[in-house]
Amino acid sequence: MYAVADYEDMRVTVSIPDNTMILADEVELSRVISNLLENARRYGKTPETGMALVDIAAKGRDEWVLIKVRDHGMGVAPETLPKLTRPFFRGDAARTAATGAGLGLAIVEKTIHRMGGMFGLANTASGGLSAHIKLRRSYE
Ligand SMILES: Nc1ncnc2c1ncn2[C@@H]1O[C@H](COP(=O)(O)OP(=O)(O)OP(=O)(O)O)[C@@H](O)[C@H]1O
Ligand SMILES: [Mg+2]
Repeated sequence: MYAVADYEDMRVTVSIPDNTMILADEVELSRVISNLLENARRYGKTPETGMALVDIAAKGRDEWVLIKVRDHGMGVAPETLPKLTRPFFRGDAARTAATGAGLGLAIVEKTIHRMGGMFGLANTASGGLSAHIKLRRSYE
C-alpha cells in the first residue's frame, strides 16, 4: 500500500476487520498486493476520471480469510478471464504499452498456491476486475 500512497492517479481504500490474521509470508503477500495494485493503475482506471480506484477488503469465513482487490475499470472480456494467469499473456490494451511481460498474474497465482491458498479473477457487476485471494486463517 505504501508504495502507491503518493500516486495522484490512484485511490486505495482498505477494509479489514480487527484481529484478522492469516497464515502467509508477509513479503510474498505484499508482492502479490503490489502486483495487483500496479495492474489496477495500468489497466483498471475508471474511464471518465482517469483515476484508478481500488478497494481492498478482507473477511474471515470458517478456516479461511477472503481478500478481494477490486478496481472500477473496464474489466476484461469474459473469455479472456481464464487466460490472464497464463505466463506471457497480455491483453489487447496492454500490447501497445511499453512495460510489462505478462508475468505478474502468473506469479501472483503461483505465490498464493505456494502459501496454501486459492486465487481467482472475476469481472464485477459494475465493471472492473476483482482478484480473490483465499488464505488460511490464523487464530494466534
Ligand atoms: N485490473 C485489470 N483490469 C483489466 N485488465 C487487466 C487488469 N489486470 C491485468 N489485466 C490484463 O491481464 C494481462 C496480464 O496481466 P499481468 O499482470 O500478468 O501482466 P502485465 O501486467 O501485462 O505484465 P507484468 O505484470 O509482467 O509487468 C494484462 O496485460 C492486462 O491485459
Ligand atoms: Mg502486471
